[in-house]
Amino acid sequence: MTTDASQHWQLARDDEGIAWLSLGHASAATNVLSTEVLEQFGSCLDELEHDAPKGLVILSAKTNGFIAGADVREIAAVEDYDTALTLVKRVQSLFDRLEAVPFTTVAAISGFCLGGGMELALACRYRVVEETPATRLGLPEVMLGFHPGWGGTVRLTRLIGAPAALDLMLSGRSVDARTAKRLGLADAAVPHRHLKRAARILLHEQPAPRQPKWWLRAANLPLARDAVALVTERQVAKRARKEHYPAPYAIVDLWRRHGGDWREMMDKEAPSAAQLAMTSTARNLIRLFFLRERLTALGKQTSFPLRHAHVVGAGTMGGDIAAWCALKGYQATLQDQSAEKIAPAIARAAKLFRRKLKEPHRVQNALDRLVPDLGGHGVGRADLVIEAIVEDLAVKQALFEVLEKRAPQHALLATNTSSIPLEEIATGMQSPQRLVGLHFFNPVAKMQLVEVVHKNDTPSDVLEKALAVVKQLDRLPLPVKSSPGFLVNRVLMPYLMEAVELVNEGIEPETVDAAAKHFGMPLGPVEFADTVGLDICLSVAQVLTKHYGGAILRRLEEMVEKGRLGSKSGQGFYNYTKGRRSGSTHVKTEGSLDELAERMILRLVNEARACLEEGVVESADLLDAGMVFGTGFAPFRGGVMHYVDQRGQEAVERKLAEFSKRFGERFEPRWGATG
Ligand code: NAI
Repeated sequence: MTTDASQHWQLARDDEGIAWLSLGHASAATNVLSTEVLEQFGSCLDELEHDAPKGLVILSAKTNGFIAGADVREIAAVEDYDTALTLVKRVQSLFDRLEAVPFTTVAAISGFCLGGGMELALACRYRVVEETPATRLGLPEVMLGFHPGWGGTVRLTRLIGAPAALDLMLSGRSVDARTAKRLGLADAAVPHRHLKRAARILLHEQPAPRQPKWWLRAANLPLARDAVALVTERQVAKRARKEHYPAPYAIVDLWRRHGGDWREMMDKEAPSAAQLAMTSTARNLIRLFFLRERLTALGKQTSFPLRHAHVVGAGTMGGDIAAWCALKGYQATLQDQSAEKIAPAIARAAKLFRRKLKEPHRVQNALDRLVPDLGGHGVGRADLVIEAIVEDLAVKQALFEVLEKRAPQHALLATNTSSIPLEEIATGMQSPQRLVGLHFFNPVAKMQLVEVVHKNDTPSDVLEKALAVVKQLDRLPLPVKSSPGFLVNRVLMPYLMEAVELVNEGIEPETVDAAAKHFGMPLGPVEFADTVGLDICLSVAQVLTKHYGGAILRRLEEMVEKGRLGSKSGQGFYNYTKGRRSGSTHVKTEGSLDELAERMILRLVNEARACLEEGVVESADLLDAGMVFGTGFAPFRGGVMHYVDQRGQEAVERKLAEFSKRFGERFEPRWGATG
């Protein structure tokens, strides 16, 4: 029997008297827990409480996953603490009700089960998960600047013990089906065809609910709690500052104060979550969540199914791009001038596959998809051809003349150049409008952004295909106009150059890096330059100064001349032993860091503004997305232009004018030059 309990939920009872409640969000492709969905869930509980079933199984009616979490749009719309608290408490009591129903409950989870969805599953007595790579369980709220507020902090800790629960909540990472089973988060992990049966068995057999081992429970005792909290907080401090990211600290604090008393912890969870959700950090991280969605949506405008990618150039970039394509399930052929050039790329790929895919048969399948192709035979079958050979105009021109003839008509032709204008590369092509740039960043497996470079003559369908390809490769596409340095390198370079300038003035590199981190950058600019390679930085700087003016510090040129190229040569601004930094880590006091950071950041801001005015990128929002996802620009600040808005344009202009008098014309405001 099926009752139409609501628009979103379907409630059916089978012959055994078991109720099957499935969520299929009526107006969204993915199940999210909006107020409406939760209200209707409440009505379903009314019905079930009134006429109790033998047991209840909660599942998803969608094939893409269980529940992705709360409706972030609704969270973003809440403007004050009182409203936030009321909303949080309402769902907390709803899930308390679910936990207290007089019949046994099971969440049958297939695909993602995150945030609020995980909290709902935690309020069930049992959880059974489908063993598939798509199954991911987690509480990622910390990535949006707050923590679970619907009982998740309490129920997860109680279920799997504080150390594992803190680890999951503080990192925001999700776990697969097997790990969920091992942690005790899931009671059973089974193949798809057994999911419902496993839920039924749990209802029949009613095994004693899982409990963490005694030593894990002992961590909740007062003295142990203080000790664990202290160590955990120190680890958190290494990754995030409290003034920038308060949420992880609040999670530790909530457990440290109330971890022994679950009811009290539940009571305190709601106000803590509500208060965090109102912080500027949360607002800005939520802003980035939407910007990420926007970039993803850009890749959905057209369907251009990618099956086969052919990559020319098996060096640092080409090798890793081909590996990434194979990792993501596509055929990838990799071409270079000799087998010796391709071999290291395949070895790197094998390492990547083992790290990411773990299971030997999946690793093997990925390796089978990645094919060395000295003769370049893959070009004729490819949907996507990416060139990643040496940064030499004539060689690239010659290559595209050949590629254009051999590639299928429908194929997308792309270059990964980081500095040569596309117009120049395409000069020898019969249809130069076919060429786009797909500018991946190094390391490919880590950097989420890909700049999708288009020229004035790029047809919209070609651009859309390029955006769609990047989306299918699970990267974030950012459309940018073909111009030297595109967006990310161009905006980053003045910031790096100012860091070199500061070192040149006698400030220790450690202090310069500390200043940038003090502002919120994930990595200091000096260590960043050393990691990328000073020769690469110099060559990008040369291209940019040629086009946009400015000067390159002699110091940088000298270092490159002397072979001090950064970590790869053992010496750059820092010294390295076996690739690891050695030497002092002395840092000046915090007081003097502000101005140092300001000098670097304002140069970045200045260049960003110029890019915007020149139309390198379409809008301030897209610029912000590019800088955060492409460089890690202080995420809690919500982006470069957002930072300017929050600080006030006038204040920024005043500071630039002041710096221009004190430090030189490189700080001349670029505001309003053209628009
Ligand atoms: P790389 O020097 O590591 O690799 C280039 C490879 O291309 C070499 O294996 C070489 O044998 C091969 N090659 C040269 N001419 C060829 C030809 N005609 N046919 C087939 N193979 C050929 O260079 P890397 O660093 O991978 O850079 C490649 C491209 O990616 C360049 O355009 C560079 O500007 C761009 N890029 C580099 C980044 C980096 O961080 N290294 C970041 C983003 C873009």
